Amino acid sequence: MPKIKQVYICTQCGYESPKWYGQCPQCKEWSTFEEKTVQQSSQVSPAGSSKALEIKPIGSIKGSSEMRFSTGLKELDRVLGGGLVVGSLTLVGGDPGIGKSTLMLQICQYLGQDKTILYVSGEESMSQIKLRAERLQVNTNNLYLACETNVESVLAACLLNQPEILIVDSVQTMMCERVSGTPGSVSQIKEATAAFMHLAKEQGITVFVIGHVTKEGALAGPKVLEHMVDTVLYFEGDKNLNHRILRTVKNRFGSTNEIGVFDMQNGGLIEVDNPSKMFLEGRPENVPGTCVTCILEGTRPVLAEIQALVSKTGYPVPRRMASGIDFNRMALLIAVLEKRANFVLYNQDAYVNVVGGFKVLETAADLAIVLAIASGFSDFEMPGDLIAVGEIGLSGEIRAVSFLEKRIKEAQKLGFSKIMVPSRNKLSHPIEGIEIIRVSSVSQAIYKIRNNLQ
Ligand code: TYD
Ligand code: MG
Repeated sequence: MPKIKQVYICTQCGYESPKWYGQCPQCKEWSTFEEKTVQQSSQVSPAGSSKALEIKPIGSIKGSSEMRFSTGLKELDRVLGGGLVVGSLTLVGGDPGIGKSTLMLQICQYLGQDKTILYVSGEESMSQIKLRAERLQVNTNNLYLACETNVESVLAACLLNQPEILIVDSVQTMMCERVSGTPGSVSQIKEATAAFMHLAKEQGITVFVIGHVTKEGALAGPKVLEHMVDTVLYFEGDKNLNHRILRTVKNRFGSTNEIGVFDMQNGGLIEVDNPSKMFLEGRPENVPGTCVTCILEGTRPVLAEIQALVSKTGYPVPRRMASGIDFNRMALLIAVLEKRANFVLYNQDAYVNVVGGFKVLETAADLAIVLAIASGFSDFEMPGDLIAVGEIGLSGEIRAVSFLEKRIKEAQKLGFSKIMVPSRNKLSHPIEGIEIIRVSSVSQAIYKIRNNLQ
């Protein structure tokens, strides 16, 4: 016998409780609790199932090869794992104003050559979208617009018109009639996404859903939808800078952690083929406190410049600031420098920054961070044509990194003539045209630089 239970659910964040609250303990919103009746079956039992489950041996199932098509933007195809998969649902997340709508509208021109697209906006009027389309030179006749926030109406329009691609801008404005809660609340965005997912799978429509990352971060943002969708792309970047990074966070049809790099211009987003060159622009050479490293973003090597400023502190506890790298990693590397290379840093403020707003989270950047801090502290010049890669262990040893050849090639491509690498890394074949400096410990690396790499 199913039991009937009364529960109170927060319409904002979905928090469930047996008693009523004026303020939600989870999201701290006021007056958001609604009473709901739920049926609860007392025990899970096989007799309760109304449907016989069909089971098959895996060998008897025919795999259909996924059908992919290009979006016309190489950088976007790359993060999608080689193009869009028919009938997939992709969530494009990011801060408001970062360029999500721009990107989606921009790909319509290419996709519209042989596919019909329905662009549903719950945020902007048709004339606003038209204006932007003109600016982006999107004028295909296969692009249809609708301004709607009702999910049921969007689904009905898709069934009637059968577009091949549906773009929903944004999920936070969508509203399901049969679910309580305001648009943008967890229950609403989950239900809307589930409905679009169903549409994608049933009708073979390729769906893009845009989701804003809200001020609260994870709450009510695209984070709660990640498990439901096929692919999650995040648009990152500093709004004050022009470059934007599109990152794969989840991909059921390809690898994750790929990045696509774009430059926001007056005419829309321009693809950046060579991000390393962009991140190194305006780099000072032969000065203390800076070192270039090469990190891997998915399968792609990217060069990044790390800068450090170290100066005597005026406070009882020195200030430490890390921007673009992990703060705890920086603390650990400073400790290694103190203990294993005899640098006295306990009374020094240290600021480390990755130029261009880029984030460096790979441990292969350790050596460059340490060299930047050490040279920033001791004021010795870092050679401008050198890059450094290597992970640092707590005993001050330099540990091997993966895909060293790839990193060396990228450094060579950008005109670097020297690369400092862990001596533990073995190269499968000799590489010409770049001097390879092997080091096994932090103190050896610093010693070599101070002695002009002899
Ligand atoms: P938008 O795509 O509206 O952001 P989102 O949908 O993620 O909220 O991007 C808006 C920003 O992009 C806005 O600050 C202006 C800028 N922009 C350009 O620089 N060039 C362009 O061609 C367009 C269309 C927008
Ligand atoms: Mg937008």
